[in-house]
Amino acid sequence: MAKKRLVVGNWKMYMDDPREAREFFLGLRKRARGMSGIEVWLAPPYVLIPEAVEVLESSPVEVGAQALSSHADAPHTGEVSGTMLKWAGASFVIVGHSERRASGEGEASVREQLLRAAEAGLAPVLCIGERERGAEGEHFSDIEDQLSSALKNSAKGAMKKLVVAYEPVWAIGKRAEDAMKPQDLQQMVIFIKKTLAELLDRKMALKVPILYGGSVEPANASELVKESGVSGFLVGHASADLEQFLAILQACK
Ligand code: PGA
Repeated sequence: MAKKRLVVGNWKMYMDDPREAREFFLGLRKRARGMSGIEVWLAPPYVLIPEAVEVLESSPVEVGAQALSSHADAPHTGEVSGTMLKWAGASFVIVGHSERRASGEGEASVREQLLRAAEAGLAPVLCIGERERGAEGEHFSDIEDQLSSALKNSAKGAMKKLVVAYEPVWAIGKRAEDAMKPQDLQQMVIFIKKTLAELLDRKMALKVPILYGGSVEPANASELVKESGVSGFLVGHASADLEQFLAILQACK
């Protein structure tokens, strides 16, 4: 049986009015009811997680976080642990987003965050992506390196809930016409599946959903999901606009 498609909304800092956020949650709850055949996850900023959980509790939408601390011990000012996210009602967390990698998060930290997410029982959405495409296919080795440093020798079982989000950095935060083309994405999806099969237990690797992120909008969602072999999307700017987000969900049904 075909697995459900998965769409994750990454709000970043797009929504800064709590009243608007509440309206969004209420609207999503109402309109997500008819969305069978698709999983919907939403990652608002930390401060909006409790409210999102409260409003969306009786809906099929799962709530998660955009990041978590790589540290297991307490003296780290400003950090939020996986355990705290779990208390707040989160069920997943985005790990290693390129915007965080660009502000200093290294491979070791990404690896630690994956462990912290697994310890807390959160599904990690591991982001990988090349900064640019090389004429000689160098981007494939960038992806292999990122997957390998994040997942190599990870304990069997720790990655049971793993989701991989392939987000080429050059395609993030633009418009649909600047996103990756389905044929190129299809090649990359095959490459990621092959790499995961080498790094993880083979059976487990086959189950890992592979999402695409980078300027997914209603205009390109349908073509991308139908022609590339991805399991769904990680959506940034378009996920903070209810009508656009719903149109993307509709395209994935
Ligand atoms: P975008 O962001 O959809 O705005 O390109 C995607 C992401 O960074 O997760």
